[in-house]
Amino acid sequence: MNIAITLTVNGVVRQAEVPARRLLSDCLRHDLGLTGTHVGCEHGVCGCCTVLLDGEPVRSCLTFAVTVDGHDITTVEGLSAPGGAMSPVQRAFAECHGLQCGFCTPGFLCTVTALLRDNPAPTDEEVLEGISGNLCRCTGYQNIVKSVHRAAEIMAEEP
Ligand code: FES
Ligand code: FES
Repeated sequence: MNIAITLTVNGVVRQAEVPARRLLSDCLRHDLGLTGTHVGCEHGVCGCCTVLLDGEPVRSCLTFAVTVDGHDITTVEGLSAPGGAMSPVQRAFAECHGLQCGFCTPGFLCTVTALLRDNPAPTDEEVLEGISGNLCRCTGYQNIVKSVHRAAEIMAEEP
């Protein structure tokens, strides 16, 4: 039996009828067509599937869609400005080569967006702690850390 749920995703009210055990990651990708959220390990380790739930990063592969009925979700598709301009975090990752294959990137972008909202000028240690739940197999992390600091600079320059 499917259950009707209503989510506000990237500012748009979306409805879906889902089985009770549908993962939020699968709901976003398959029911709502938002394939920007990636799924890697599907058991809470890699952070690829991170989205913002009422502004806080969560692993969408560990969240049942029915449990977030009525809540606000932001996915990577919702980070850019309404006209499509990249957010400061997205621009910084592009500028500092904070990605290679890009598989992990949507999760990092969501995590870092929340990190910089809460701490606009993090130290290296705070950045490493903040991204410690996101794994990247390509970059070696150095350029991701640079990207976070660059995003903080851009946000300070363009309040
Ligand atoms: S796919 Fe969700 S944590 Fe890896
Ligand atoms: S850029 Fe390839 S896994 Fe991170």
